Amino acid sequence: MSHTAVCWINQTIKPAHEAAISVFDHGLLYGDGIFEGLRFYQGKTFMLEAHLQRLQASAQAIGLAVPYSQERIAQAIEQLIDAYSSDTGYLRLVVTRGVGNLGLDPQKCSQPSLFIIADQIAVMDVGEPGQGVSLHVAHTRRTPARCLDPKIKSLNYLNNILARIEANRAGMDEALMLNLEGNVSEGSVDNIFIVRDGELLTPPLEDGMLEGVTRAVIIDVAGRAGIACRETSLRVSDLQQAEECFLTGTGAELIPVRQIDEHVFAAVASPLIPVIMAAFKNHIAEYCSSG
Ligand SMILES: Cc1ncc(COP(=O)(O)O)c(C=O)c1O
Repeated sequence: MSHTAVCWINQTIKPAHEAAISVFDHGLLYGDGIFEGLRFYQGKTFMLEAHLQRLQASAQAIGLAVPYSQERIAQAIEQLIDAYSSDTGYLRLVVTRGVGNLGLDPQKCSQPSLFIIADQIAVMDVGEPGQGVSLHVAHTRRTPARCLDPKIKSLNYLNNILARIEANRAGMDEALMLNLEGNVSEGSVDNIFIVRDGELLTPPLEDGMLEGVTRAVIIDVAGRAGIACRETSLRVSDLQQAEECFLTGTGAELIPVRQIDEHVFAAVASPLIPVIMAAFKNHIAEYCSSG
């Protein structure tokens, strides 16, 4: 069944295709804005507080005043989920600098705008269950923090999009981005983990990635399932020597990786991914069924 996307904008909810912002909005003209992607299951938003905190941190980092309180945004999200035709879906919360003139100066923008879309999302074609996706190591390096801090979830995704275009051209599902030092950073819209010698490894935040909400949840649920997890810098060769590899993100949830360029992961006797996946799903179900 298909569901009609809905949008909360200017304090009202309408079909998303009827919602519009000005061509003078600097979110559109300059990518001057921030966003969050959230999922809801059984009518409840997963990790709402963490996403709203990150939104606030992103806003602060670019000197943008979010035009509504966190309570008002949470209320708007609730209303939007009620208006949507499924109790499971994805939310895109966007705050732009708002309407200005054709010049870049954010001071000329009078009022930030905020809208939220409820819809479905598939960040990549995951194929048959358990099959996994392919990654292409992109030449495009992740923007260093001194240029645009990857912790800011900004509307400037061209860095990631260029990497994804490379992956598309290579016939692969997703791009793997390295930082300027050649350490593994993240995918174009997801964080990365490997399993090596029964241990879960993921790059540290210093290697220049978005601090994923899902990444933190996975570290937590894996720990509670008795699986040790360590943050350590990784090279592509570490990934190739790993037993298993997977991506995490709000859109991605947890997606196993079957291949990185020509390297194909061999089947392992007792894989950890299904264990982590089950723990993650249980955690979501528990979280979203609690009042
Ligand atoms: C560049 C990038 N990295 C990682 C992630 C995963 O973050 P989260 O788990 O908070 O969705 C995202 C999600 O949109 C992303 O855009």
